[in-house]
Amino acid sequence: MTDREVRVYEVGPRDGLQNESTPIPTAEKLRYIELLANAGLRTIEATSFVSPRAVPQLADADELMARLERRPGVRYPVLVPNTRGMERAVAAGSDAICVFTAATDAFTQANIGMTIAESIDAFRPVIAEARERGWWTRGYVSTAFGCPYTGEVEASAVVTVARQLVELGVDEISIGDTIGVAAPRDVRRVVGALLDDGIGVDLLAMHFHDTRGTALANVSAALELGIRCFDASTGGTGGCPYAPGAAGNLATEDLVYLLDREGMSHAVDLDALLDAARHVSRTLGRSLGTKVGQAGGWRVP
Ligand code: HMG
Ligand code: MG
Repeated sequence: MTDREVRVYEVGPRDGLQNESTPIPTAEKLRYIELLANAGLRTIEATSFVSPRAVPQLADADELMARLERRPGVRYPVLVPNTRGMERAVAAGSDAICVFTAATDAFTQANIGMTIAESIDAFRPVIAEARERGWWTRGYVSTAFGCPYTGEVEASAVVTVARQLVELGVDEISIGDTIGVAAPRDVRRVVGALLDDGIGVDLLAMHFHDTRGTALANVSAALELGIRCFDASTGGTGGCPYAPGAAGNLATEDLVYLLDREGMSHAVDLDALLDAARHVSRTLGRSLGTKVGQAGGWRVP
């Protein structure tokens, strides 16, 4: 990868949809994933092998993965919280998984019923098996900038958890602003602490929620720090059922427009991406209101 290449990590089918209360037909989710691949996305987080009681919207994960037509060159990671989730991922023929913990015990307790330490113990056999199978693995650190239950989060807490994920051997760590409270100064503080600890920039991805309109400013700050992987959700949907107020992921179309104007390269075609955004909007029966979704790309007259 050159210094101007950015990986766009699409989380729409998982993070984008997980909080939607009306059940979405599996066929519409599959069509969404297909349109995202048509737009050039090379990593599309497809679904979660979590408890269907915890996240009813993704209760069709096994069926979705069974029906998914995988394209060569596209990775379809799935969330796995424990060995039960890993069994389902194996049965589904997955080859890329994400474990997910947080920088605060209060959030991991609410989200997965474990402390941070318990979550790391739960992930150990999962990551070990995934590595034995030669799968790609990612670890999420949620609430890295603020916790809906305990408030401000110290950068040192993020570093401690990220370090434990590195020791488990994950291929990538995604640092999450779960409730969308960060501003660029926070990004410099947290990413700076991770880099100072010796965690390589190539290992890091940023996961911003645009709850308060700061996501693109945060992306710019992270780009300047050398981060080259960003999570985003086409249509700007998203939130976590266990993070009150976690509205709206950074919209992939807004991210792609920024990257284009900044002269960064990526594989995503904005017009084709807007087809996927329109599909989500139709499926959910509402307009989504992302900036670039409304204005479109800029066609220079
Ligand atoms: P629990 O109830 O504490 O665990 O749930 P349990 O082991 O006692 O299991 C309870 C029941 O769930 C049992 O069934 C298990 O078999 C079943 P029962 O005997 O009662 O019929 N079960 C499962 N079923 C299917 N798949 C599984 C599974 N595991 C247990 N994998 C658990 C613990 C972790 C399962 C639950 O809390 C859970 O699934 N949580 C997931 C929450 C979630 O998906 N949150 C959203 C994703 S995180 C996020 O959005 C943030 C992120 O975007 C980054 C950011 O923004 O910061 C990633
Ligand atoms: Mg999220």
